[in-house]
Amino acid sequence: MGEIVLQAKNISKHFPGVLANDHINFDLRKGEIHTLLGENGAGKTTLMNILDGIYYPDEGEIYLNGKKVDIRSPFEATKNGIGMIHQHFMLVDTLTVLENVVLGLESQGFYLDKKNISEKIAEISKNYNLDINPYAKIWQLSVGEQQRVEIIKTLFRGVKILIMDEPTAVLTPQEADSLFKILRRMIKEDKSIIFISHKLDEVMKISDRITVLRKGKLVGTVDKKEINQKELAKMMVGREVLFRLDRNPIRRKGEVLKIEDLETHNDKGIKILKGVNFSIHGGEIFGLAGVSGNGQKELAEVIVGLRRAIAGKVYIKGEEVTNLCPKAITKEGTNYIPPDRLKVGLVPNLSTVENAILRRYDREPISRGIFLNYEEAAKYTRELIKQFNIMVPRENVPVKFLSGGNLQKLILAREIREEPALLIAVHPSRGLDVGATEFIRKKLLEERDQGVAILLISEDLEELLMISDRIGVIYEGEIVGMVDIDSANINEIGLMMAGVHKNPLLKGEENVKV
Ligand SMILES: Nc1ncnc2c1ncn2[C@@H]1O[C@H](COP(=O)(O)OP(=O)(O)O)[C@@H](O)[C@H]1O
Ligand SMILES: [Mg+2]
Repeated sequence: MGEIVLQAKNISKHFPGVLANDHINFDLRKGEIHTLLGENGAGKTTLMNILDGIYYPDEGEIYLNGKKVDIRSPFEATKNGIGMIHQHFMLVDTLTVLENVVLGLESQGFYLDKKNISEKIAEISKNYNLDINPYAKIWQLSVGEQQRVEIIKTLFRGVKILIMDEPTAVLTPQEADSLFKILRRMIKEDKSIIFISHKLDEVMKISDRITVLRKGKLVGTVDKKEINQKELAKMMVGREVLFRLDRNPIRRKGEVLKIEDLETHNDKGIKILKGVNFSIHGGEIFGLAGVSGNGQKELAEVIVGLRRAIAGKVYIKGEEVTNLCPKAITKEGTNYIPPDRLKVGLVPNLSTVENAILRRYDREPISRGIFLNYEEAAKYTRELIKQFNIMVPRENVPVKFLSGGNLQKLILAREIREEPALLIAVHPSRGLDVGATEFIRKKLLEERDQGVAILLISEDLEELLMISDRIGVIYEGEIVGMVDIDSANINEIGLMMAGVHKNPLLKGEENVKV
């Protein structure tokens, strides 16, 4: 490892309601792979977007080779030798590799000499073992190959510092291994790499140094050789004493949800659930822990009918509902708090009233023949607003103007007013402030006490420990552990989330206390 090539000093960045980066210090040496580790929402992407010129920090400075720089766009970052590969690739599907590589360069007065460029791509490709045909169309390539095109793009631009934001999240284990070979090859050429991840096993495999962020704050920077996975897990998850909400003893009722050998594909066609089994009873909160991308989002979608199962079965109250349409599944008493509030949960341009009645517009008294009884709709909405303490400027303002916490309260209010038998809540408190978070958690506990079966999918271990009755851990599409809340241990769950060790005793339902 060589001298320091990049230094971020005291970087702070606010977003409305969150301090995403709170006086972060970070440095990168020539020829090292420096991992940025942290749970979801820790502030990793924000810090890297600042280095790449996408965001400008509220406070702090960036130094390149000891000289202060002011990076105000990704173009300026490239000029300074910094390139970032985002979680969502920025490639044009219908163009070739070559066209994508030169995209954005032409406007800089670059003369498009296809032969020359293709030779240069072939040379880069050979040098780093990237194995890419310059004339292939992007849509013809696998995700792993598309990622290599992104790497070629940065190398073509002469980037010396490469930032990769969770590059393995979309890869199969084999693809991840070949990516690691490419990265090792790059550092031999004196490039420096910032690698973002929250998977401890791969972090231990690939890193020279590791910087841990938690909730926007720097926890520390450590040498890989001087740390182990267990200690890293502690740094990432935190040691704080857990604050527990008061809750009543569990009164388990009959089985509401049963999942049997469930399998499904993700959007890329990769098998993301590989035989999942569990069940949830009425009056119980089942927390599903896992870092994102391990199949939890797809699991929720299959249960509510938004994604097809390719194998296995879903039962609600003993009735098989596998691959029924969402409306039929709702009819069986399933309600859903989706992870993406404005895309799936609400219609951004409709008003509070219109969003509030989405589950009821076709029923009396809100429906009156083919018409909507606006008075009834508004009355119902005012009830929800009052009961859930939702702050709305006006009932007819488009909901996209409400804050995250109020949007989430509106969805929760609408969904639980339907008196579901099963409630699926995915990241219900993500991005919310402390007050709204506590409110949502208390409401979930109230629903549990009313006998609702709740599947709580969250990446926030503290939340899971606070309100779940049982916790299952999902890793790479399988439930790798299942613990009762009384014997749950945050570090152990953190390790299971990172795929470090499985809990062989606790498969399926064997650990359930009735
Ligand atoms: N563009 C944005 N607007 C508002 N909030 C944001 C934005 N980007 C990130 N955040 C918030 O900043 C925090 C840190 O996010 P991020 O840097 O994406 O974390 P990570 O990459 O570690 O998961 C989160 O609370 C997130 O909700
Ligand atoms: Mg991120």
